[in-house]
Amino acid sequence: MSILIATFPTTRTLAKKVAKKLKAQYSEVITKDFPDGESYVKFSKNPKNQTVVIFNSFARDQNNRLIETILAAGIAKDYKAKKIILVAPYFPYLRQDTHFENYDSFSIKHTAPLLKIFDRVYTIDPHLQRIKNIKQIDKDFQKLTATGLIVEYIKKNFKEPFTIVGPDKESKQWAQTVAYPLGKKAIILKKKRHTWRKVDIQEKNLGKNVIIVDDIIGTGHTVEETAEIAIAHGAKKVTCIGVHGVLVENAAKRIKKYASLLTTNTIPNKYARIDVSPVIFEALKNFR
Ligand code: R5P
Repeated sequence: MSILIATFPTTRTLAKKVAKKLKAQYSEVITKDFPDGESYVKFSKNPKNQTVVIFNSFARDQNNRLIETILAAGIAKDYKAKKIILVAPYFPYLRQDTHFENYDSFSIKHTAPLLKIFDRVYTIDPHLQRIKNIKQIDKDFQKLTATGLIVEYIKKNFKEPFTIVGPDKESKQWAQTVAYPLGKKAIILKKKRHTWRKVDIQEKNLGKNVIIVDDIIGTGHTVEETAEIAIAHGAKKVTCIGVHGVLVENAAKRIKKYASLLTTNTIPNKYARIDVSPVIFEALKNFR
């Protein structure tokens, strides 16, 4: 049995790297829109008898990404793939992981089952909060993590002394996991979110050389505000490291007023310096 990597454009560079490491066949999924907006999807290689690994990242235009991914899995099934695996380096709808208000959507509960067609779904550092284990979402989902790669990056590129800061309690699982192998305890701040675009972060002296670690950098207000506080309290250098650079609404521009910015390449962006292909390779190598 061999592996056929079939990637959507969002993950082309990453999928190519993983295919090379696996010595697997690499192909691109062809996508078009019908004039009325429906998606058209076509494989460029025959999936028959292959372990088909579909790559797609769900950072932008998530609803279309979901539908095209399901259509691609359908092609693999109809043309008799042996196994169908999804690598979704960034997985959407996880922040709405309960009913926060009366009658609002518990989104992950009702979007994850749309991917039932896959034998396995791998994702990197999913935003798990109220749901603690990804297997509670679906037994065929598996979590990978980029925190080890972030630690290596920090070891290579930063000189002591520095502090590791998590901007809110939800970031603790990433900030603390990164801090621990560096022999540190992360400083975890308190955050109050008023709206999607307005947050208040606890004021505190965070040290002179500050590394802020979070999973998602979306509008960037969380890390921007944290960086501003660090500087107001005397920091000379601030770096924001996000696993997922969603980066909407000029996030990067606002963050860069106070800090340098870097992310992994789960979502392609100009600040992606940490390559997650090694963790994806490790997950897939036994399917060869
Ligand atoms: C929330 O719990 C996450 O860990 C991030 O802090 C949040 O998603 C960041 O959002 P934004 O960049 O829009 O402030």
